[in-house]
Amino acid sequence: ESYDMGGHDTYMHKEIAEQADAVDRVLRGRIDDRFATVHLGGLNLDAREARTMRRVKILGCGSAYHAGMIGAQLIEELARIPADAEPASEFRYRNAVVDPDTLYIAVSQSGETYDTLAAVQELKRKGARVLGVVNVVGSAIARETDGGVYVHAGPEVCVVSTKCFTNTAVAFGLLALHLGRIRDLSVADGKRIIAGLRKLPDQIAEVLRAEGEIEKLAADYAQAKSMMFVGRVRGYPVAREASLKLKEVSYIHAEAYPASELKHGPLALIEPAVPTVAILPDDDLLDKNRATLEEIKARSGRILAVAHQEQEKADHTIVVPRNEVELDPILMGIPLQLLAYHTALALGRDIDKPRNLAKSVTVE
Ligand code: AGP
Repeated sequence: ESYDMGGHDTYMHKEIAEQADAVDRVLRGRIDDRFATVHLGGLNLDAREARTMRRVKILGCGSAYHAGMIGAQLIEELARIPADAEPASEFRYRNAVVDPDTLYIAVSQSGETYDTLAAVQELKRKGARVLGVVNVVGSAIARETDGGVYVHAGPEVCVVSTKCFTNTAVAFGLLALHLGRIRDLSVADGKRIIAGLRKLPDQIAEVLRAEGEIEKLAADYAQAKSMMFVGRVRGYPVAREASLKLKEVSYIHAEAYPASELKHGPLALIEPAVPTVAILPDDDLLDKNRATLEEIKARSGRILAVAHQEQEKADHTIVVPRNEVELDPILMGIPLQLLAYHTALALGRDIDKPRNLAKSVTVE
């Protein structure tokens, strides 16, 4: 991959289209079928440390933070280590308790985001173990961390992150599998996740083939006054990232909420001019998510569902292929990148350089 536009009108479109290849690259050479695990050469974390750590804390900003949220869920699910993600910008200012049994992970595309770098430096000064999940090789965060996983998304030029977000989530899948197999994830589950990871490039290509359908939907959603994005557990980070994407590139106001929180306030916003995008993975929360669609319909809200099968209560459903439930968030975000892109295009926005934003925020 290069800086050449390769026939695309924008870098954002090019980078969305590159995702099947990018995911193939982050997986390449890392899977170990014999032990149903992965090898992460630069991780610098031995098996004893992997077994004895008590918590994982993931830090990043913007899309990197959202990819970290997916990462925290993957680590909890596959490795059964308590894990959570927090904006690096908040963490560095709140005088957090630095725990010697916690593994800290800094996430960044550029590796130069000042808030994330400052959080790493503060952690290192206090003696913490800090790894990086970073795209740009040799960047400041890659250098300051003790080791980590390169994301191998290739150059990302558009201010709005797409392929790096997806590759970061896949890199966390690898890390979670690695930690899981050192701890208590069975060989059978290891093989199941590996098979799921291997399916991703073809499934991404399949999702991208629905672009024409998403373009038509975007012409309609471009008229929205504001949009809600909702999901539960695995769907929630997807909702957050999709909401950020839409805001950044189309300038349409958007909010993301856990679907379970709608009735605690945001339901008051629902009306025909405020459509909802609902993420409904086919997991044990599907019925709860369907009940949310009914709540929205009862308030005359329009619904676009992203799901594994048509949703009766939704006005439109974008159907994405099934993978292993743990990996669903990786695929479900991709059609929503296209939704943000085509909505911005319909509104005539400057897609690669949205107003007021910089590719990497290297100042406080
Ligand atoms: C994403 O679309 C952004 N423009 C922004 O949120 C970005 O993810 C954030 O600034 C972090 O950048 P980094 O990954 O280079 O650290």
